[in-house]
Amino acid sequence: MSKIKSIQAIQVLDSRGYPTVACKVATEAHSAISMVPSGASTGSKEALELRDNNNEYCGKGVAKAVDNINSKIKNAIIGMDCSQQFKIDDILIELDGTTTKSELGANSILAVSIAVMKLAAKTKHIELFQYVNDLFNINFSSEIQMSLPVPMLNIINGGEHANNNIDIQEFMIIPNGAESFSESIRWSVEIYQALKTNLKVLSYPTTVGDEGGFAPNLNSNQEALDHIMRAIEDVTLKPGVDVSIALDCAASEFYSDGMYKLKAEKKSYSSTEFTSYLTSLVKSYPILSIEDGMDENDLKGWKFLTKELGQKCQLVGDDLFVTNVNELKEGIENNVANSILIKFNQVGTIKETFETFLLAKNNNIKTIISHRSGETEDTTISDISVGLCAEQIKTGAPARSDRTSKYNRLLFIESENQSLDYANKIFN
Ligand code: PGA
Ligand code: ZN
Repeated sequence: MSKIKSIQAIQVLDSRGYPTVACKVATEAHSAISMVPSGASTGSKEALELRDNNNEYCGKGVAKAVDNINSKIKNAIIGMDCSQQFKIDDILIELDGTTTKSELGANSILAVSIAVMKLAAKTKHIELFQYVNDLFNINFSSEIQMSLPVPMLNIINGGEHANNNIDIQEFMIIPNGAESFSESIRWSVEIYQALKTNLKVLSYPTTVGDEGGFAPNLNSNQEALDHIMRAIEDVTLKPGVDVSIALDCAASEFYSDGMYKLKAEKKSYSSTEFTSYLTSLVKSYPILSIEDGMDENDLKGWKFLTKELGQKCQLVGDDLFVTNVNELKEGIENNVANSILIKFNQVGTIKETFETFLLAKNNNIKTIISHRSGETEDTTISDISVGLCAEQIKTGAPARSDRTSKYNRLLFIESENQSLDYANKIFN
């Protein structure tokens, strides 16, 4: 029994320079720290991120969430065994008592939930990814293996993540032909640097957006795709064979009055027309995956998109499912999307994240463990991706420590665990 002896939260800074919640939990012999991420293009059904909205930190302070940990949450779980993850998560859920975690804030609840999980791994003297795997299999009588995920790297940033005119939020590469995780990272770095050189030659700025990808003003989405194709070819890799492309449209951000409005291209599309637009992109470029291709509430649009592209492409629900088991259930019933983005701060606890993951696995919905656009040096998602045997991880560009810390953690896991499978077979 490893009793929790102390819990303490403070405000630290995330990658955008705004406060976020950090939490330290300790037993007599060990301690663990967590830091929670924060989204910018959030789904409307996400659990609530509690902000102070006062005159400190531009209204973005999280002092209330921190106080909730240092008082109510502390009183409720101090003395408990840190290996009782699901029981502790249930107490946190109950203590909050709302469906959206609006009483205590999902940022306070998640910080504790993650820190407890990390602490339990330490007390058992095992790696976090191994503990994640055990925790999942024991609680769900499951037998999932562990593997290294295929990375999706965001190399051109638009939408809410950049101060430019590109409407599609993320242009990513998937090194699907690489034989190992480390090879996929090497290829991605080479492509990222080639892209930077090419943009410089064309006198585009090479400043980056929130997730480390370049953020130039371009004339169209196609232009972004052309630059990526060229960068892949410049490093003598084959587009579509070695390296493919993924998009996150984050379409809810440019959907209004029933239309998808692309500012850069000065075009406005109905959901049927926007599906045709995406279909034409899939025909012209090696696009393997499209995330949030429709607005989160445009069910008709999602059904049509899935009917048209669901056999050819991975269609990922992010704002659509918000890592919520009920939203995913509804999506499965309605036959929309075929993959899910898993972000634990959308739902607020490890237990609920695992429940959504289990439902996805049981229904052959592909899983992508994901960062948020506001990140910290916390690398828990890397261990989760390995421990849950997720097919993919999405954690930004191969640049900036808030992103590379996740890839670097996976590089260490790979080098120290040579027997781990690499999940590239899903695309081949
Ligand atoms: P967010 O963006 O973290 O700003 O929500 C990431 C995404 O949409 O996938
Ligand atoms: Zn997204």
